[in-house]
Amino acid sequence: MQLEGSSALVVGGAGGFGAATVRRLAQAGAKVVVADLADEQGKALAAELGDRAVFLKTDVLDDDSVAAAVAAAVDLAPLRISVDTHGGPGAGKTVDRENNPVPMEAFRRVIDVFLNGSFNVLRQAAAAMAKSEPQDTGERGLIVNTASIAGYEGTAGQAAYGAAKAGIIGMTLPTARDLAPIGIRVLTIAPGVFATPAYGDNIEQVKQAWGPVVPFPKRMGEPDEYARLVIAMAENPYLNGETIRLDGALRFMLKGNRP
Ligand SMILES: NC(=O)c1ccc[n+]([C@@H]2O[C@H](COP(=O)([O-])OP(=O)(O)OC[C@H]3O[C@@H](n4cnc5c(N)ncnc54)[C@H](O)[C@@H]3O)[C@@H](O)[C@H]2O)c1
Repeated sequence: MQLEGSSALVVGGAGGFGAATVRRLAQAGAKVVVADLADEQGKALAAELGDRAVFLKTDVLDDDSVAAAVAAAVDLAPLRISVDTHGGPGAGKTVDRENNPVPMEAFRRVIDVFLNGSFNVLRQAAAAMAKSEPQDTGERGLIVNTASIAGYEGTAGQAAYGAAKAGIIGMTLPTARDLAPIGIRVLTIAPGVFATPAYGDNIEQVKQAWGPVVPFPKRMGEPDEYARLVIAMAENPYLNGETIRLDGALRFMLKGNRP
């Protein structure tokens, strides 16, 4: 996939994985749309990258705002890569300490933001890519989703999150099959534990807790390691319809291996 002269869409582009991916894609010569709910961080990142990036406030649950982000990318150059790294809420345990069932609304919300939101981005990005001229290799584009190793082995309290992420893993092959005739590849990254702003202010504590638990390398992942996998996916046209774990061989245990 030739990124030079292409445009790229990074949803959740102001976050940990997103910002690292935006930087790598811009470095590879793409014009990048940073699409995120977070204005301040998104604008700052786009400003830092000058004419290589623009920010668009985007909510994955709002069809029109996703359409606007896709259109902004198409305006810059042919859209060749869409990477979705957006975050979302948690739901809690199936039954709480007072033995009340988790509200269905909390479960639905997690599925809506993580799973439906990811499909919303995927479908709209694919439709825009489908209208472009293919590159010499026949490729029109690449779509990268973000799952989690919780999609395979969710810990306690991750029923909704694990189900949403398993849904993303589950839609990877069928969407790759849907889009194969038009030269669009679909891939998913299932990260382990990465040091991103999602962990809030006590990241040093979190790093100390997780580091020893990861088989090798014995540390949390860095967002740039996610971004480098995106670039490797773009460079290798034979990768398609697959979810790749990026986790230092970590496997979650009952409570996520926390000491
Ligand atoms: N950090 C980890 O250890 C880890 C591990 C496995 C999976 N993941 C997944 O990777 C993704 C990104 O995680 P991160 O650690 O970079 O998080 P992050 O909090 O650093 O970034 C997430 C970004 O998504 C944006 N966002 C939230 N809701 C949105 C919406 N409705 N529409 C558009 N943007 C929205 C936020 O504003 C934020 O900038 C998430 O899906 C997360 O579940 C993270």
